[in-house]
Amino acid sequence: MSLEVRDLTVVIDGRRVVDGISFTVPDGARVGLIGESGSGKSLTALAILGLLPTNADVSGSIVWNGRELVGLRDRAMADVRGDEIGIVFQEPRTALNPIRTVGRQIGAAVRIHEGVGRRAARERAIAEAARVRLPDPSHIVDRYPHQLSGGQRQRVAIAMALACNPQLLIADEPTTALDVTIQAEILTLLRSLVDDAGMSLVFITHDLAVLSEIAEYGVVLENGRVIEQGPIATLLTAPTSPITQGLLRDATATLWRGEEDAS
Ligand SMILES: Nc1ncnc2c1ncn2[C@@H]1O[C@H](COP(=O)(O)OP(=O)(O)O)[C@@H](O)[C@H]1O
Ligand SMILES: [Mg+2]
Repeated sequence: MSLEVRDLTVVIDGRRVVDGISFTVPDGARVGLIGESGSGKSLTALAILGLLPTNADVSGSIVWNGRELVGLRDRAMADVRGDEIGIVFQEPRTALNPIRTVGRQIGAAVRIHEGVGRRAARERAIAEAARVRLPDPSHIVDRYPHQLSGGQRQRVAIAMALACNPQLLIADEPTTALDVTIQAEILTLLRSLVDDAGMSLVFITHDLAVLSEIAEYGVVLENGRVIEQGPIATLLTAPTSPITQGLLRDATATLWRGEEDAS
């Protein structure tokens, strides 16, 4: 179940916003896409999921599980998305429907892909809420998103992404919108869920400190290009590009601030 991205290029309004990106996610690997804001991380994720804006021209190759995803018809792509590849976005509020209970939203993901009935979907929603360690699962499924904290909402979004047991999870800055302490909790949760399921992971962040907590390999992006890639340990100890060196300086600053917060 590997993902191979080759020479991926996305052009929007004549701009090459993703410019020949290549990387591989071997089966069960945890790979990070890291770079400053605007470097092309989210568009790379959206290209993999077939969710690019309609005015985007995509070329190159994205082979998932032996199957070419670039140019795949919408129906076929919709089957891959959610069922085989799950996605968690930065802002849980946008992923959730404000007027549906969280249980129905988690259950909907199961119903669409597995065709189970309403009652079974509710049971599954409770089980999934427990899996992401939401408190009091059998009651929280009847609540609405606004009745939950930000961290709890992100747990719901993760439960929706994982409900169909995808083989690959793409998490696009899943902790960026959360308070520092909640960030650490969500990161720990994601790591254990990915470990337990043996899933592959593409984790997107601008923070090398965060990435070192969850990924083993990093792909550094700048202006839609891969600047450097390698094991996280190498990026941390011997970064070769000024971009990675800058990310490392920012990460170290974050760690220091974190220690001050804790004291
Ligand atoms: N829908 C869009 N239309 C036009 N330009 C876009 C669109 N989405 C993103 N871009 C541009 O593409 C570049 C990369 O965006 P993105 O992948 O979202 O960056 P990142 O996730 O690394 O912050 C940015 O310069 C951004 O302004
Ligand atoms: Mg982004």
